[in-house]
Amino acid sequence: MAGDSSRLAPDARILVTGGAGFIGSAYVRDVLARRDGARITVLDKLTYAGNRANLAAVEADPEQAARFSFVIGDIADPEAVGPLVAESDAVVNFAAESHVDRSILEPEAFLRTGVIGVHVLLEAVRIESAARVAAGRPAVRYLQVSTDEVYGSVADGHSVESDRLDPRSPYSAAKAAGELLVNSYVVTHGVDAVVTRGSNTYGPFHHPEKLIPLFVTNAIDDQPLPMYGDGLQQRDWLFVSDHAGAIDHVLRHGTSGETYNVPGSAEMVNRDVIAGLLERLGKPWTLVRTVPDRPGHDRRYALDGSKLAALGWRNRTSFDDGLATTVDWFRANEAWWRAAKSGDWDAYYERQYGARLAASSAASTRPEA
Ligand code: NAD
Ligand code: DAU
Repeated sequence: MAGDSSRLAPDARILVTGGAGFIGSAYVRDVLARRDGARITVLDKLTYAGNRANLAAVEADPEQAARFSFVIGDIADPEAVGPLVAESDAVVNFAAESHVDRSILEPEAFLRTGVIGVHVLLEAVRIESAARVAAGRPAVRYLQVSTDEVYGSVADGHSVESDRLDPRSPYSAAKAAGELLVNSYVVTHGVDAVVTRGSNTYGPFHHPEKLIPLFVTNAIDDQPLPMYGDGLQQRDWLFVSDHAGAIDHVLRHGTSGETYNVPGSAEMVNRDVIAGLLERLGKPWTLVRTVPDRPGHDRRYALDGSKLAALGWRNRTSFDDGLATTVDWFRANEAWWRAAKSGDWDAYYERQYGARLAASSAASTRPEA
């Protein structure tokens, strides 16, 4: 059983990199709302996936805004990172290119942020920690947000943290590389660091490039829903506030050098997820199109959560409740997702789905043979 007292003071200063994205912004909103003394600085490059509107609730609340600051910058830029790490007690790194399909189209940014960016953060943490430890103060704690995709496709059973890594997309390879760098800094330099491996996350503010928000928003507009292959790929769905809460729990209670799986609450095949969201929206299955599969598509992810449970964390949100909250949020926040589906969106959509939809067929309600 890992430590039962927090490794961080309640008023610790936390640098949240990638905090304008989907999960990072949920983390910032939750921590500032839940913990009175918490102080957070976000460092975010504001890529197409970063959106300051995700933090509007924080900036509109004078009490929370006083404990919050926002810096636009790149985690791969040592000049941006160094001074911010020097004024922080902990770093939680959400920053990444996060979409598998885009990593197939254009992998470079995945490597730059996922490998060089993580290295720049670790170097800054190493240098600042050495100075603090020499002065008798605690080191800076680092948490790397990683993914169940580093295990690759899991034929049966559940992945445990000691399993071999077998990443199979440029996205997951970059995430695995980031984790290995973290481990090297723990072993070689004694950096205080933990890693989380989360499963498929969904909820409000999810970028509409991903399965659930893409299909919800397309269905609202009565547009086709491009289901890859037979739709029998399995994921374990994790509501975003549960993922953010688990990350905060590991930051505070995890043992340095350890990795913690963060499983979801529902192991489901894509077809059943799609049927559930269509039912909630009152839209027909006939919107679903079977399209050519994602290259290298991982068939199944499944995580063993015993280690995180032993640390004292459990999820709070069932898939039914989480999906209802999510669908209702997208219905109520059209301006948010229509803005995310503007600018470069049409060019991306055409590149990703144009030929696929042209080659598509109506999806049977039962799995194809
Ligand atoms: P996201 O794409 O919504 O957000 C990523 C954020 O990082 C954006 O705000 C973006 O502007 C920022 N960013 C990207 N490159 C940057 C750089 N070089 N410097 C500074 N900021 C940069 O991603 P998400 O879905 O919120 O995922 C967050 C993290 O969680 C990622 O590391 C991802 O690998 C991991 N993860 C995601 C899921 C999931 O299902 N979404 C599951 C497990 C793990
Ligand atoms: O498992 C954790 C990972 O979950 C995270 O590390 C990633 O950052 C996150 O994007 C997510 O990756 P996936 O590839 O599993 O998520 P995505 O929403 O892209 O796809 C979910 C499933 O739906 C997958 O089997 C592919 C399928 N899919 C997806 C899209 C976008 C479709 O059938 N059609 C689609 O158009």
